[in-house]
Amino acid sequence: MNLSTRIGSLVLPNPLIAASGCFGYGVEYSDVVDLSTLGGVAVKGLFLAEREGHPPPRIVETPSGMLNAIGLQGIGVHRFVREKLPELRDRRAIVFVNICGTTIDEYVELARILSDAQGVAALELNISCPNIKEGGITFGCSLTGTHNVVSAVRKVTSLPVIPKLTPNVTDVASFARAAEDAGADAVSLVNTFLAMALDVETRRPKLSNIVGGLSGPAIRPIAVRMVYECRRVVKLPIIGMGGIATAADVLEFMIAGANDVQVGTANFVDPFIWRTLLAGLEDYMTRHRIVKLSEIIGTIDTTQREQAWISS
Ligand SMILES: Cc1cc2nc3c(=O)[nH]c(=O)nc-3n(C[C@H](O)[C@H](O)[C@H](O)COP(=O)(O)O)c2cc1C
Repeated sequence: MNLSTRIGSLVLPNPLIAASGCFGYGVEYSDVVDLSTLGGVAVKGLFLAEREGHPPPRIVETPSGMLNAIGLQGIGVHRFVREKLPELRDRRAIVFVNICGTTIDEYVELARILSDAQGVAALELNISCPNIKEGGITFGCSLTGTHNVVSAVRKVTSLPVIPKLTPNVTDVASFARAAEDAGADAVSLVNTFLAMALDVETRRPKLSNIVGGLSGPAIRPIAVRMVYECRRVVKLPIIGMGGIATAADVLEFMIAGANDVQVGTANFVDPFIWRTLLAGLEDYMTRHRIVKLSEIIGTIDTTQREQAWISS
């Protein structure tokens, strides 16, 4: 069975990538998950400098989902290269570094530093974090901003450039097209949905930041729809995510048009989810006599269903 997929020249052993912010810097999980068996590891978003993030409470449980406003707490790119990358390299992880900036120059500088570091497979540009005031989503909510940041990074690196799109726009497909026009190698979508929750007894917001990003199964059908819409307008590989918790969910994204997927919130529920997902994909391939998993990408059948009930 062949579960491998491709993003430009990058070959992944399977389509399952750990989503940024939900798998630390990868090394925290290396005792429970063999990192080399994953399609990839997208590490927690990095700025140039270290950041503390927002004060607690930063996480709230919601029906079939989770609301977070971490505020991109992180160790900064220099410490990442010094302290985390060597172990990721030793563990043969395929490392997607998720980068965040407040200016285009910051994204460019991060891309330069990471292109010189050994062991980085791809750059995922976080232009979609919904819960920080400056940077990120400001680029991701503007077609020109998306185009400008992608083309600036494209110029300074030969690593695959993968902007991560926000779902907090009316027409996500136009952002995928802007990314493609600017020279992206793939797009990943979706980041979290801007949301909030209140405690009615105290009338206070449940998050210190008031608003946060919604993830988990609650968002999956919307994310699948967005992947489907993007697949119709771009040729780029698409990395789909949003609420994936079972092998059927992975397949749903792939049939809608995703080449690969990321799994975020479900990893908090079950850190061993990877082997369950892989076993489920293999079982599906056996039952459907599929030799190469990538054959199913974008194979959604939208022809009219036979309306047997009309004649009965
Ligand atoms: C606690 C938490 C932290 C996150 N941090 C980041 C981040 O640093 N960079 C990023 O691009 N996305 C981040 N995300 C978004 C996820 O990578 C993913 O896009 C989103 O959660 C949807 O997938 P899921 O429903 O499988 O979690 C974070 C999500 C959560 C729940």
